[in-house]
Amino acid sequence: MTLAPSDLQAPLRLPGAPASLAGQVRVPGDKSISHRALLFGAIAVGETRIEGLLPAEDPLSTAACLRAMGVAVSPIEAGPEVVVQGVGLDGFREPESVLDCGNSGTTMRLMLGLLAGRAGRHFVLTGDASLRRRPMRRVGGPLAEMGATIAGREGGNLAPLAIAGRQLHGATIRTPVASAQVKSALLLAALTAVGPTTVIEPALSRDHSERMLRAFGADLVVAGPGGTEVTVTPGNTLWGQTVVVPGDISSAAFWLVAAAITPGAALTVENVGLNPSRTGILEVLEQMGARITVLNRRDVAGEPVGDLAVEHGPLQAFDIGGDLIPRLVDEIPVLAVAACCAEGVSTIRGAEELRVKETDRLAVMARQLGAMGARLEEHADGLTIQGVTTLHGAEVDSETDHRVAMSLAVASLVASGDTRLHDSAAAAVSYPGFWDDLARLRR
Ligand code: S3P
Repeated sequence: MTLAPSDLQAPLRLPGAPASLAGQVRVPGDKSISHRALLFGAIAVGETRIEGLLPAEDPLSTAACLRAMGVAVSPIEAGPEVVVQGVGLDGFREPESVLDCGNSGTTMRLMLGLLAGRAGRHFVLTGDASLRRRPMRRVGGPLAEMGATIAGREGGNLAPLAIAGRQLHGATIRTPVASAQVKSALLLAALTAVGPTTVIEPALSRDHSERMLRAFGADLVVAGPGGTEVTVTPGNTLWGQTVVVPGDISSAAFWLVAAAITPGAALTVENVGLNPSRTGILEVLEQMGARITVLNRRDVAGEPVGDLAVEHGPLQAFDIGGDLIPRLVDEIPVLAVAACCAEGVSTIRGAEELRVKETDRLAVMARQLGAMGARLEEHADGLTIQGVTTLHGAEVDSETDHRVAMSLAVASLVASGDTRLHDSAAAAVSYPGFWDDLARLRR
């Protein structure tokens, strides 16, 4: 992703309270599922048709890498389905140049797993300044246990990373963090290793890879407490599928919090993925007393889906940590905004993973929400936030982080006076239509 430096782009003016929100919104496709549909389609035999794929910068990065290795992916735009012509498990062509993963950690980490076993081929992965700062040894280390050779800066921890593809062997691997990106990379590497591979996580991370790999025909068994042990036995061919991508609950979270905190607001967010490994945000909002109703629960192509009706009401502080964190890891920035509007002291613990996301989200949220008058304290692994606090409009900056940009926009709805947001364009990483939706829903 190429983002204009904040000072070259005019800051976005976000008018403060009194604001309200009303109407219906359909959030774009789930980012995690979109990446996986493209990647698994690429290594399947035959055609994969993807409905509702997220047309945002991150999935575009995945598609560009795949195209550079000889995979035909139809244009990615809002509306039409995307068609991937699979090249089979070992069909990637050696790319002629460096593969650019943009801002996308999911692209880089899953690609590492997918490419490490491509014997005889050489690949180099890089990304934007944010991605080149993010830790990759968490994937390269376990992959090395399967025989992979990955080199890069800081002993293979930082991109650009060079992969010397080779035949891998299966292994039993305990991952140190509950990370779906790490788990998925290993499961992808396992597909062509010699012998089975078992990945054991300390807590369950999102399980979209497990569900979708099985639907494509992989021999994959989930066991262990809470589904934390996944075994892949190689040998099966993956077959092209039709994938229907539900709306992203991580994008819906901005509207859920916006409506819950904005006086007079009432919104319906339609077609939201409700996979239990992602619904921690709903549990916390319910714990806070938010008025949320799930309507039309249904199953779409192996993933639970529903519509969410939400309206403003009084909120209580929350206390979160432990195994819940991986189930709402991307929603913590916007939960910090909700905490400013909730009665009492909210605490977030065990969230040190936020320090290695697109930005150090604990530090950035503390800095930016702090500039709006939030009373919060930053800890090594979380935040303590005092509510109810009346926020005030301020000069703030997404610091290139899409989820920070949208969280600050939610905060601006209840702030007194205007907020000026630098680098609002960052939202396009996961939700390109966010600013249009905000303008349409605002009353
Ligand atoms: C993702 C997993 C999460 C999440 C990221 C997408 C995925 O990261 O933060 O936005 O698609 O697997 P970790 O699994 O590294 O926590």
